[in-house]
Amino acid sequence: MKQEGRKIAVLTAYDAAMARLLDDAGVDVILVGDSVGNVIQGHPSTLPVTMDEMMYHTKIVSRGVRNALLTADMPFMSYQASVEDAVRNAGRFVKEACAESVKLETSEEYVDTVYAIQKAGIPVMGHIGLTPQSVLKMGGYRLQGREEGEARRMIDLAKSLEEAGAFSIVLETIPSHLAVEITKSINIPTIGIGAGPGCDGQVLVINDMLGLSPEPIPKFVKKYANVREIVESSAKKYIDDVKSGKFPARDHSYD
Ligand code: KIV
Repeated sequence: MKQEGRKIAVLTAYDAAMARLLDDAGVDVILVGDSVGNVIQGHPSTLPVTMDEMMYHTKIVSRGVRNALLTADMPFMSYQASVEDAVRNAGRFVKEACAESVKLETSEEYVDTVYAIQKAGIPVMGHIGLTPQSVLKMGGYRLQGREEGEARRMIDLAKSLEEAGAFSIVLETIPSHLAVEITKSINIPTIGIGAGPGCDGQVLVINDMLGLSPEPIPKFVKKYANVREIVESSAKKYIDDVKSGKFPARDHSYD
């Protein structure tokens, strides 16, 4: 798709019903993101998400996927301690949960890990820029790659990941001009989130783009619906109907 100049549309999903809807809509890649920790489990970060939880969500998402590429996000501490851990856990996603690729948050330290996973036959998506699993080290969720040296290191890292065999790289929360430079420097597709229009594709967290996540949501999110409002007003109407005896009516009852 990159070679043909066709943009790649990626969305996250956490269950079979949503995965089926997104797949039917024609999304190219479904990512079972560790953002499940924030948007489904109610955690303030992705750090508490476990391998077992990601396995569960990947398994159920896989039942809704027909055509899209299914990518599973490797959670915090599923690949950081050793390359062996990383290969074994990536393998579990493929063998037990029907994932077709894995994503991991990648600094220079994980280039060898990417190499080892892809060598085992598992396609790997890198993730650079703002990497939420390093929130404690980064001291918060903020724009990355603003400084000249940092930007240069990010370009070099993208090249190293391509050389290590990654099939694509997520660029999160970096300046648009840097995303363009990275995208031009490598042959594999870049998938942006908060990285401007110059990437080969875009990814959003499904709950954010549907307007299900509570405010504040990041500046880079475009809300395509306000499902939160629909759910709230529908629930209020239902509660009123039950309390006033309007529901169930004859139409919803058996004779
Ligand atoms: O966990 C996630 O959903 C992600 C995407 C936002 C890229 O990593």
